[in-house]
Amino acid sequence: MLSQAAQKLGPAVELINADAHDASSHLPPASQDLVLCHFVLGFGDGGQLLEQAYRLLRPGGCLSLATTTRQSFSELYEGRFERFANWLGVQNSLDQLSNPIDHADCLQLLQQQDFDILADRDHRQPVCFESLRDVRGWAVDSGWVVNGEDKHIRLRVAGAWTLIGLAMVFLHPLFPVHATCEMSIVLAQKPVARSRRQSPPHSPSDPARETIV
Ligand SMILES: C[S@@+](CC[C@H](N)C(=O)[O-])C[C@H]1O[C@@H](n2cnc3c(N)ncnc32)[C@H](O)[C@@H]1O
Repeated sequence: MLSQAAQKLGPAVELINADAHDASSHLPPASQDLVLCHFVLGFGDGGQLLEQAYRLLRPGGCLSLATTTRQSFSELYEGRFERFANWLGVQNSLDQLSNPIDHADCLQLLQQQDFDILADRDHRQPVCFESLRDVRGWAVDSGWVVNGEDKHIRLRVAGAWTLIGLAMVFLHPLFPVHATCEMSIVLAQKPVARSRRQSPPHSPSDPARETIV
């Protein structure tokens, strides 16, 4: 993927293949004007990822954050799907994700890291699951529900999918299922005047060069 990006972007952009939890060890502290963190929070330790962004930003630099919240697609594991989802252990798996509980929680996480909120949006995107295949695409293929550390859920999902396949004819009338994807979209700024911690000296970055971690 990085080689494709390198082909498209050319030599003006430096690409670094690294764990985002450790991003600040690859770049000088307080060196970046903008950090993008789009749909990554749920894959790791949210607090640590935001802290890395804070360290990399120069005072006055901005963080563009977009993340799904744990409210997303709750229609698929509540109500008529609740028992089935409980059996699958969906809630346990979701609890292992580190994306924010909701938009307010997202703003709080940023404020805890000493960011100022410049603009924010609690975006709710209606999504229609037309069939079990659509649900599988979200829950299994994309890895969202089986993203946690709980390995047993993978086995349960595989077993459940076999059962669902058999019951498909009976379940089909349940569709379409209308659900909502809740996304927290925030532009946050590292303050210029105050500092939560001793900031290292500012190292100016070459404006002609951008870095993607
Ligand atoms: C849902 S995709 C979002 C991709 C892109 N940011 C976007 O908005 O389209 C999540 C990405 O996070 C990457 N990722 C997951 N854990 C990571 C980590 N610890 N460090 C760096 N990248 C990670 C995955 O490889 C994947 O490309």
